[in-house]
Amino acid sequence: MSYQTIRVEASTGYDIHIGRDILSQLPAFIRPLLGECRLAVLTDSTVDELYGDKLIDILTSAGYAADKFVIPAGEASKCADNLLEFLNFLADCRLTRSDAIVAFGGGVVGDMAGLSAALYLRGVKYIQVPTTLLAAVDSSVGGKTAIDIPAGKNLVGAFYQPRLVCCDTALMDTLSPEIYRDGCAEVIKYGVILDAGLYAALRETPFNRENVVARCVQIKRDVVQQDEFDNGIRGLLNFGHTFGHAIEKLSNFTVSHGSAVAKGMLIAARFAPLCGLGNITTDLAALLECYGFDLSCRYSAEELYDAMLSDKKRRGGNITLVLPRTIGHCELVTLPIEEFHDKLKQIID
Ligand SMILES: NC(=O)c1ccc[n+]([C@@H]2O[C@H](COP(=O)([O-])OP(=O)(O)OC[C@H]3O[C@@H](n4cnc5c(N)ncnc54)[C@H](O)[C@@H]3O)[C@@H](O)[C@H]2O)c1
Repeated sequence: MSYQTIRVEASTGYDIHIGRDILSQLPAFIRPLLGECRLAVLTDSTVDELYGDKLIDILTSAGYAADKFVIPAGEASKCADNLLEFLNFLADCRLTRSDAIVAFGGGVVGDMAGLSAALYLRGVKYIQVPTTLLAAVDSSVGGKTAIDIPAGKNLVGAFYQPRLVCCDTALMDTLSPEIYRDGCAEVIKYGVILDAGLYAALRETPFNRENVVARCVQIKRDVVQQDEFDNGIRGLLNFGHTFGHAIEKLSNFTVSHGSAVAKGMLIAARFAPLCGLGNITTDLAALLECYGFDLSCRYSAEELYDAMLSDKKRRGGNITLVLPRTIGHCELVTLPIEEFHDKLKQIID
């Protein structure tokens, strides 16, 4: 069984293993890090139904004591009530600082497991086992953890790195086409911001999942190693997200994250020439359409502007956008909000 390993050297160093059918290797990956220990698995109802027994079987057959906590599938589960319930569960399992939490699922499970690990006993180890494309290329790497509160998404969180990421790409075979496509938006994002070669490879569909996931993870690793705590270059990973978050919010979250990011990337591409950068609009629209994204935006410049003003990325009287210069090269551009407002009206009526 072959797999690729990518090493992250952040405040905590860790390996990310990527390959098809490598879930059974998880105990072998864990043992050198933790030895014999108890593992508390957090998963969601969909992943549990598909793979929960398999994972517990793999862990217990290898001699690990493994307990499982299941939250309902969906973003609504990434909440304070579930966090507290899970923390109580960890205490009931008598998890100690020699033990670890295993996040088995998409970004919702990964974010909540990571935050729980940061909080419980002031920090226990955690392992990411991503099961969505988005989690594989994005949320399982880099140590951003969070839950949502009524005031907004991801408003309560911590930077806390996992000790291991085990990405079995075969688990993604059961994703619905919509959820798989959401992850493709993030993959395309990496190509636009930092890797023209990856972008070119994405013109061939379906792409080689293992190689593409590995390349995206390398890109994210390189960015995180330079700016773990998101004070500069890590902002590039927000390409398409500042507009995308506004679209998600305006749609009352009926537009999925990936579809909103796709629309957001296109708006950013249209915005770039107004700031003296390049124009990749036609090329990007063609690629996104090839993946089946609906690129229409039914919100006015005024609506987008209002929704973006409450976005947490705005600082003072300025807004920072990630804009493409060419495919494979994006820049952070900071504009006074009045100028941003005027330019937005020029591209969206
Ligand atoms: N921490 C970070 O850096 C970071 C980055 C990006 C996104 N996020 C967060 O990630 C979350 C979104 O992640 P997501 O898109 O993975 O959402 P998700 O975790 O809700 O998963 C999407 C859906 O796919 C289902 N699913 C998961 N794995 C499956 C499988 N193998 N087969 C079939 N169905 C499966 C889930 O049950 C769920 O219904 C958001 O909360 C977002 O804020 C975090």
